[in-house]
Amino acid sequence: MCGIVGYVGSKTYGPDVVISGLRRLEYRGYDSAGIAIRYNPGERSDEMYGHIIENWREQGGVDELYDSIPESVIWESDCVIGHTRWATHGAPSRRNAHPHTSMNRAITLVHNGIIENYETLKTKLIQEGYEFESQTDTEVLANWIEYIWEKSATDFVSAVRFALQDVVGAYAILVISPKSDQLIMAKKSSPLAIGVAEHGFIIASDATPIVEYTKDIIYLEDDQMAVIENNIDLRLMNLDATEIDPVIERVDLDLEQIEKGGFDSFMLKEINEQTETIQNCIRGRLTDDLEPLMMGGIDGIMPQLLRANKIFIIACGTSWHAALAGKNMIEKLARIPVEVDYASEFRYKDPIIRPGDVVIGITQSGETADTKAALEMAKERGASLFGIVNVVGSSIARLVDAGIYTHSGVEVGVASTKAFTGQVAALALLAMRMGRQLGNINDDSYLRLKSALRSIPKKVAKILANTDDILAIADEYTDEKYHDFLYLARGFNFPIALEGALKLKEISYIHAEGYPAAEIKHGPIALIDHEMPVIVIATKKGHYEKIVSNIHEIKSRNGKIIAIVTEGDETLKKIADHWIEIPESSEFFTPLFATIPLQLMSYYIAVMRNCNVDQPRNLAKSVTVE
Ligand code: F6R
Repeated sequence: MCGIVGYVGSKTYGPDVVISGLRRLEYRGYDSAGIAIRYNPGERSDEMYGHIIENWREQGGVDELYDSIPESVIWESDCVIGHTRWATHGAPSRRNAHPHTSMNRAITLVHNGIIENYETLKTKLIQEGYEFESQTDTEVLANWIEYIWEKSATDFVSAVRFALQDVVGAYAILVISPKSDQLIMAKKSSPLAIGVAEHGFIIASDATPIVEYTKDIIYLEDDQMAVIENNIDLRLMNLDATEIDPVIERVDLDLEQIEKGGFDSFMLKEINEQTETIQNCIRGRLTDDLEPLMMGGIDGIMPQLLRANKIFIIACGTSWHAALAGKNMIEKLARIPVEVDYASEFRYKDPIIRPGDVVIGITQSGETADTKAALEMAKERGASLFGIVNVVGSSIARLVDAGIYTHSGVEVGVASTKAFTGQVAALALLAMRMGRQLGNINDDSYLRLKSALRSIPKKVAKILANTDDILAIADEYTDEKYHDFLYLARGFNFPIALEGALKLKEISYIHAEGYPAAEIKHGPIALIDHEMPVIVIATKKGHYEKIVSNIHEIKSRNGKIIAIVTEGDETLKKIADHWIEIPESSEFFTPLFATIPLQLMSYYIAVMRNCNVDQPRNLAKSVTVE
């Protein structure tokens, strides 16, 4: 949610590093973008200050920004900051785009997060004679820093430090001034990483703009600041000015992971990567014969998990659907009650957490504001925290006591696909490990489960190799007259119905709802007519006869049935309007297979409707504001 990039170092790199970094971060927000270039005295001068800062902003994406910058602009600078925005305060517009500059031009900054007390600060600034040109909380912060700087007659770094002590909310900021050689950055609740390259420092909301230049990264912690001086000296400090020794981590991320690799979109690439990403999640954890599954990251917390009276799983969006799938799996094998909550509800509902309860957070990005805050609250109440996280080294990965990385690789497409199947695979492993240790899985069942686990990547590959039917069905339902879809399933597949509906909504803007199949009689069946496509997951294992009856009920009311069926199911082929076959599997693992045709169908419908699948309107990949 908003991406920020900065560069300090060699003049030849500055603007290009920031523009290409913004392109890599566009998945975080893409309604406007901007860049501020600082020129040194001598190169360009400012009567008032010495350095000159030129600011270019545009509504739209980074391409629109780049095209709007005149060719006459000097494309060399040793200090540049940039931003790609996901609007919170104020509609997308050039005026509301970052970087924002303070009224007297002493401060230029980019910001990711929300300044919650911006109204209070703004009122005070207006009393002091400040005027504002945007509707953003960020311009308030720029002016607040300037005001504190002028009022306290202190240095630039202290002014930022003091000003931040007045701020309530979340921020990752990069601040520059025409009066200083320094670039200052700070963070609270929003992520910020500093890449240490040979020719300079690349600062960004995540590692993706950095790895092209260096794998050495310093992750700033909450309430920390960093200052880069003379293009080479980096100092880290707390907001109270105590100095901190920087810890450089080596990130394991390749450039090819963050590029499209010949696919039309990141989403299609990521859907197609699932054979490999699920394999990556299982690899090294799936042991031979009766050996326990190897999951080093959870050994420490295993006693708490096995003793837990209750497990809470908290997450948002697609990760919340994975949580529902995980609940079914853990309850089935471990026989421990699991409560699934939206993180945004959990954090404000005064949950009953008892000693010994375990709270599991599921998150792709590891930065989702609500999930992080909910976990922090659970920690304060004494719960043991467990994470199922994709992004290594992310805030939530560092917050939890133990966890499992899903190893799905970088997910750039805003709609989550491979991260979801990674989460479900990780939850299956967790449920199996718990069930076995608790004595609920006998040797035969354990060997069967392991063999099923081993066969998952092959079955996924088979689904991905036969997508013509899915494409043909999507083609039929691209027509504008189909503006509502229903997704139905039962048991283990029900979370997949919800996830299928979410995928269609977010990338094609078609309204879709997921329901437990039997529930439709309690209301939604009123919607059924010949223009209502109903997608039913009707696989052989688990409530098959019941769901066939549900399909008959819909057909009797002229509904259109698209059924996800088990390979070789001849009965449903006679009843359904269309069917998509998936390989036979136990009910426990079916969610992993049933979800893939639904991802593809949403993808094809969205593409045929000319929607931007990688950057759907109004969305952002990493939701770092609540
Ligand atoms: C939907 C989607 C979102 C995320 C949600 C949580 O396709 O991607 O619903 O699942 O914003 O994000 P993470 O998993 O990063 O916490």
